[in-house]
Amino acid sequence: MTDVARPADATDATDVPPGFERAARLDDVPATGLLGVEMPRDRVCIARLGDEVYAFEDRCSHALYPMSRGELRADGTLVCGWHGATFDCRTGAVCRGPASIDLQQYDVLIRDGDVYVRLRS
Ligand code: FES
Repeated sequence: MTDVARPADATDATDVPPGFERAARLDDVPATGLLGVEMPRDRVCIARLGDEVYAFEDRCSHALYPMSRGELRADGTLVCGWHGATFDCRTGAVCRGPASIDLQQYDVLIRDGDVYVRLRS
């Protein structure tokens, strides 16, 4: 289980495109693991696989359990901690039910050791 973090509170980097919001320090995300972050408009789950970082809504599409309390496997499979649905953390796509709806993904940007996320339109 992973605790929910607050977004880092430092000044914004100047080269971050519009729409991106700082979510966390990269160092706060386990090297192969998950971090739940309470953002102003949504709760986000950040997944890290070494140098790869992904972000998606922190609610399972089956029954809204926080995905950040699940498990991230080394192959990128994200497992919901309640009923065991699995998703591809790279795309949010459902791999195994009971969930039948993909997770909403966020765009991710890393700047100066910070993770920024932007909801995809
Ligand atoms: S809440 Fe995730 S599988 Fe049911």
